[in-house]
Amino acid sequence: MHPENTMNELDTLAASARELFAQAATPAELENAKAQFLGKAGRVTELMKGMAQLSVEEKKTRGAAINVAKQAIEAALTARREQLAEAELQAQLQAEALDVTLPGRSRGQEGGLHPVSRTLERIEGIFGSMGFAVAQGPEIESDWFNFTALNTPEDHPARSMHDTFYVEGGSPEAPNLLRTHTSPMQIRHAVQHVKKYRALLDAGQAMPEIRVIAPGRTYRVDSDATHSPMFHQCEGLWIGENVSFKDLKVIFTAFCRTFFESDDLVLRFRPSFFPFTEPSAEIDIQFQSGPLAGRWLEVAGSGQVHPQVVRNMGLDPERYIGFAFGMGPDRLTMLRYGVNDLRLFFDGDIRFLSQFR
Ligand code: DAH
Repeated sequence: MHPENTMNELDTLAASARELFAQAATPAELENAKAQFLGKAGRVTELMKGMAQLSVEEKKTRGAAINVAKQAIEAALTARREQLAEAELQAQLQAEALDVTLPGRSRGQEGGLHPVSRTLERIEGIFGSMGFAVAQGPEIESDWFNFTALNTPEDHPARSMHDTFYVEGGSPEAPNLLRTHTSPMQIRHAVQHVKKYRALLDAGQAMPEIRVIAPGRTYRVDSDATHSPMFHQCEGLWIGENVSFKDLKVIFTAFCRTFFESDDLVLRFRPSFFPFTEPSAEIDIQFQSGPLAGRWLEVAGSGQVHPQVVRNMGLDPERYIGFAFGMGPDRLTMLRYGVNDLRLFFDGDIRFLSQFR
């Protein structure tokens, strides 16, 4: 074989390898192409085998030439491998492109306070600003605090099974019912207060006034668009040596005007009856503008604390006098937001609740 031919033949081989490698579009195709040249049955391997019959001299020249071609093919292979890997990396970067300058996306899932909780917070804030403390008490109450101490007689209809949830195994001395109102907190709080100032009272001195509200859950056997077996109440109590109905009117008017953000809202005290107050009144409010304008809306029961109840608080009714009120935060919430079905508050429907976020 003429040396010229040999060179040409090997150059052509390397050139065709380079071409085939260039055509390989993926690493897998490239490895296939490699096998055609450098594999066990590849063309370079065949050339090596073909040297068996050559003389020692010829083997030297031929072997060196084949090696040059083999190295050229290997270099082309490495170069193409790197090219393909780089292309693959670029494609991947392209596919996973992330614009870090974009504004963050909201998850749209932030929680919020329940509308009635908002009302309770408003009530606490407003009465707090007028010097009222906030008291909490048990929802499972005893007969004594829920009824007897509040001057509610044994045969009062509120004590019947139709109106009150009783707890099994209870007794009149132990907690035996779900409180039907927050009024038992009047007694609980006053008794604590009196205990705290016992020494002052025993020395014939004046004790600091009782000024407290007690918001919380209450329960009655009742269920329709405006009644739920579980509902909320907020009790208010102000006891001192010189507290009058006039003070109740001032305080409650200020509260309602602040709560509803309505300076021209007016109040009406309508005579009523509660066993634990004498005299007693329902408090009605009237908006002067807006969708409810002109209508009298009942928002609370109230009255001067009955002397027997003052006595049950451990105080002398000849010396201490005061007033109490009980309002419905659920109803206040309905009026404030224009909701007409109480049950919506307790169904837990996220479409309703999320409107108050
Ligand atoms: N406890 C009464 C009820 O549930 C409401 C009430 C009326 C509370 C008059 C009071 C009050 O403190 O003075 O209907």
